Amino acid sequence: MTAVRVVGIGGSLRPDSQSERALRIALAGAEEAGAKIITITGADLVLPFYDPSLAERPAGALNLVEELRHADGVVLVSPGYHGTISGLVKNALDYLEDLRGDDRVYLDGRAVGCVAAANGWQAAVTTLSALRSIVHALRGWPTPLGAAINSAQVSFDEYGECSDPQVALSLRTIGRQVVEFALARG
Ligand SMILES: Cc1cc2nc3c(=O)[nH]c(=O)nc-3n(C[C@H](O)[C@H](O)[C@H](O)COP(=O)(O)O)c2cc1C
Repeated sequence: MTAVRVVGIGGSLRPDSQSERALRIALAGAEEAGAKIITITGADLVLPFYDPSLAERPAGALNLVEELRHADGVVLVSPGYHGTISGLVKNALDYLEDLRGDDRVYLDGRAVGCVAAANGWQAAVTTLSALRSIVHALRGWPTPLGAAINSAQVSFDEYGECSDPQVALSLRTIGRQVVEFALARG
């Protein structure tokens, strides 16, 4: 049986991006559950503004779209910027429009783990909610468990370790739920 493919997208451009480290823990949870994981983060997300009128796409955009086309599950992690997801992550998600004509349109049939990290509860929660709204618009299934991380209270060190074991467990559980959904749908 081929392994479930889980694509993780998110993080910021900062070298010590907390949201990228959260993404990696969620993906580790998916991997522990048997998935092959693909991580698209940092500089990989630096793409031109999505332009629906262009037929040509840069290599990074083509890769992003192809990975999502073949994904069995997805994890999305964004920092909270002014109360919602960052432009970097949103622009990457705009490229999903290139899946509009697929038989399996957008994120149809896929579970999507959603995680937000912000410097306070308000933006962490509103950003998580924004991610889930986007997933619904893209016909994906947000996992039952999401995570709103308050970076003022929880940190991820240079080794990727989380200061709060409960938060780390939640992130791994989100990754596992993505895989469980993919396996349940067959
Ligand atoms: C442009 C910008 C806007 C931000 N807006 C908010 C905000 O509205 N509320 C908040 O709590 N934190 C805000 N932050 C803080 C980030 O959400 C927080 O530091 C987050 O952990 C950064 O993720 P990163 O470490 O992956 O870059 C903002 C940071 C930046 C750079």
